[in-house]
Amino acid sequence: MAFPTETVYGLGANALDPMAVTKIFIEKERPTFDPLIVHIADSNQLKELALDVDDRVMALTSEFWPGPLTIVLNKRSIIPDIVTSGLPTVGIRMPDNQIALELIRESGCPIAAPSANKFGKISPTTAAHVEKQNMNLECILDGGPTTVGIESTVIALNEDGYIILREGFITSEQLSLVVPQSTVKEHSSPLASPGLLKSHYSPSKPLYLIEPGTLYSNTLLDRLNPQKMGYLSFSRRDLKDVAVNLFQELHNLEDDPNIEYIVAETVPETGIGRAIMDRLRKASYQYSKSSQS
Ligand code: TXA
Ligand code: MG
Repeated sequence: MAFPTETVYGLGANALDPMAVTKIFIEKERPTFDPLIVHIADSNQLKELALDVDDRVMALTSEFWPGPLTIVLNKRSIIPDIVTSGLPTVGIRMPDNQIALELIRESGCPIAAPSANKFGKISPTTAAHVEKQNMNLECILDGGPTTVGIESTVIALNEDGYIILREGFITSEQLSLVVPQSTVKEHSSPLASPGLLKSHYSPSKPLYLIEPGTLYSNTLLDRLNPQKMGYLSFSRRDLKDVAVNLFQELHNLEDDPNIEYIVAETVPETGIGRAIMDRLRKASYQYSKSSQS
């Protein structure tokens, strides 16, 4: 079933039931090398699922949970291998959404859930976005538009601090107030975050990324009809607001029959801008060579 979280809609199943979790991979057409996040509703569940819940983890969870932070920890054997793609670690978070929290409490088990989109597509921030994926679902719990709009930040911890495995709504500036950032930027395991592919979050139409204000000097205009262009400019907007609405705006352009291609302006890579650029780069990856002027 699909359910709302504060970030994006999730496609959930009992995290302790390998058969149920297998159905998620099939329905989402997700490669099994990409592990799922496990959602909990109570901090006490953390120690039942993960090892090494140290003071730093406690400090992070008391500051950011419920909320858009996923912490990757060594897993206990109760978590089936299919959830973690065979990794010894599991990503866990407590969502800040009443429907999600009640669902987890009522079902009496942790819920494994990826974003409720077909693999590689734009993440869903409304029930209608989930519906248009044409997945075979028992039901969609409609909680209205999500409030955060962009996925959780995924982190791991090593001896000297945290490492960001996926940029998200919680910024490194915020995290560093609680735990120092590791000086090691790469996680030691080559499989640290298998889901971080170069291409992802892709609309069904070409998306070109350009520097702000350079459209009229860009060679794109020689090839593409400006009347069929959906243009996203963020420079006058608060970046938090851009993050909250980014997937909704991409879905709108994807669904608009008058639009054939999308051109988006880059944003500065500070604070939440890093998560926005991560999503835009992946969404435009297939077209990135052809948008350079
Ligand atoms: O906000 C979110 O995180 C949403 C909502 C539904 O909670 N979920 C979400 O899940 O974005 P998904 O499956 O689309 O992305 C999960 C990311 C992937 O990049 C995956 O590789 C990474 O988390 N991940 C999960 N478990 C991991 C692990 N054990 N080690 C490293 N990376 C992991
Ligand atoms: Mg996803």
